[in-house]
Amino acid sequence: MASVTSLAASVHQRVADALSAALPEAGAVDPLLRRSDRADFQANGMLALAKKLKGNPRELAAQVVAGIPTGESGAVIKEIEVSGPGFLNITIADEAIIKTLAERAADARLGVPYADGAGTTVIDYAQPNVAKEMHVGHLRSAVIGAAMVEILEFTGEKVVRRHHIGDWGTQFGMLIQYLIEHPHELDHKGGEVSGEEAMSNLNRLYKASRAHFDADEEFKERARLRVVDLQAGDEETLALWRRFVDESKIYFYSVFDKLDMDIRDADVVGESGYNDMLEETCRILEETGVAVRSDGALCVFFDDVKGPDGNPVPLIVKKSNGGYGYAATDLSAIRDRVQNLGADSLLYVVDARQSLHFKMVFETARRAGWLNDKTHAVQLAFGTVLGKDGKPFKTREGETVRLVDLLDEAIDRATAVVREKAEKVGLTEQEIVENGRSVGIGAVKYADLSTSASRDYKFDLDQMVSLNGDTSVYLQYAYARIRSILRKAGDTKPAAHPELELAPAERALGLHLDQFAEVVAEAAASYEPHKLAAYLYQLASHLTTFYDQCQVISADNPVEVVENRLFLVDLTGRTLHQGMALLGIRTPERL
Ligand code: ARG
Repeated sequence: MASVTSLAASVHQRVADALSAALPEAGAVDPLLRRSDRADFQANGMLALAKKLKGNPRELAAQVVAGIPTGESGAVIKEIEVSGPGFLNITIADEAIIKTLAERAADARLGVPYADGAGTTVIDYAQPNVAKEMHVGHLRSAVIGAAMVEILEFTGEKVVRRHHIGDWGTQFGMLIQYLIEHPHELDHKGGEVSGEEAMSNLNRLYKASRAHFDADEEFKERARLRVVDLQAGDEETLALWRRFVDESKIYFYSVFDKLDMDIRDADVVGESGYNDMLEETCRILEETGVAVRSDGALCVFFDDVKGPDGNPVPLIVKKSNGGYGYAATDLSAIRDRVQNLGADSLLYVVDARQSLHFKMVFETARRAGWLNDKTHAVQLAFGTVLGKDGKPFKTREGETVRLVDLLDEAIDRATAVVREKAEKVGLTEQEIVENGRSVGIGAVKYADLSTSASRDYKFDLDQMVSLNGDTSVYLQYAYARIRSILRKAGDTKPAAHPELELAPAERALGLHLDQFAEVVAEAAASYEPHKLAAYLYQLASHLTTFYDQCQVISADNPVEVVENRLFLVDLTGRTLHQGMALLGIRTPERL
């Protein structure tokens, strides 16, 4: 493992040093460096600084330029000049680009460093509800959460996954009571059941018990008493409850499997997992005065949380009937994650519609001292998935769309796309099927990850599996093309040649490749996987331009040029593959 200093970091350092030397009284200053169309980089920190110190920005910039050696062999900066009101335009030496990339290529991690001060993050994601269908909201949590797990782990963070499934609540009274009265309804006759069968069993039971519950007062009463048994920990009742949870897990795992996601049983700690802590949580909150009794319920109040009538809306941690709800469970989970799992950061990948809940829960935990300056909690809140009409995604009948149906459709569409080109590429039937899955699931994940999580997005399969534009298919084809070129190159192997002069498209591709580490660090620190997706799309676009302008394999090229271009192509492939893997998307070798 060797972390590589990026060109941006080297340039930043040199300009900052020259700036400090020119203006020692200013102390440590930021030259505000960024990529630019005019030159490779532009620094405009001189403007604000000169203004602050009442100097002339162009003069200051000229002094900085004078302090930076350029053009000598081995120098990173080839040219630096003052422009406009006092910007610096900076051009990188071709040699430095290829040398830096060669260092990246020599490292299995592409020179991406581990983050300073990595800690432990608990990520709460992929949390469907027992005995209920999974819908697109669960898709978002799973996809965004899994990407954050990978991205953070890649930066060296210790990540603990928690799937806070909805496995507790009064609805189980009705289900269990029904099962007691119809004991064979969940029996598995022929051994193993598929995920689909499991869900259809649960659906059937849910509907039947609901019908009884609504029509039969006596059943309703028996169901209510069953809730009391469940909460009291009655063994027979718990055993039946567990059957519902297990049946649901068969279904969840089948969907996660289809999503090509690795969900481990040990990480599934649902709401019920915190039952033993609820009483203590409430006791601590009451004793410390964080929560107070109000109309018989235990509540926490906030100055800035009021209902439409202007009255404060409290977070209820214990209801007046003695029952504990969603908030008590989440508060107990915070205690567990901080005190037992040793978390420094808690990340909740949950629908934005639950933002008020988390705001109140986090604030309560802060007042109780469970969260503080060192240990913080963040909701990575995501927006709603919309239909093509721009309204929340529903079936024509107005029902929520089943996630599995969407995934199956995405796979079907993608398989058709793959099949169209299959003959030309010479794919076997098995490869067509495998690639269809990788492309279809990749399309769904990428569509979700390529827009900022907080925004709503339209679930539009036509757009998602399109070969052109900002789609995973485009990226996957870029990767497959890279692999095909490397195969065609035969015995000519990729090799870096820093002595060569680069074409503009090679420089642009090279400079972009060098930014990978910074983009990963940024996506990790700000919990924004879409920044990585945007980077990968730009990478593929740079590659396309490079192909248009630079022949890779050609008898007209000197062998060094071919090797150096293959080197760029290969590193682009590895960067694409690594980046896509962080997003949970496969990159087939042949497509
Ligand atoms: N099961 C919940 C739902 O489907 C999401 C759980 C979110 N996590 C949490 N710790 N509350 O809406």
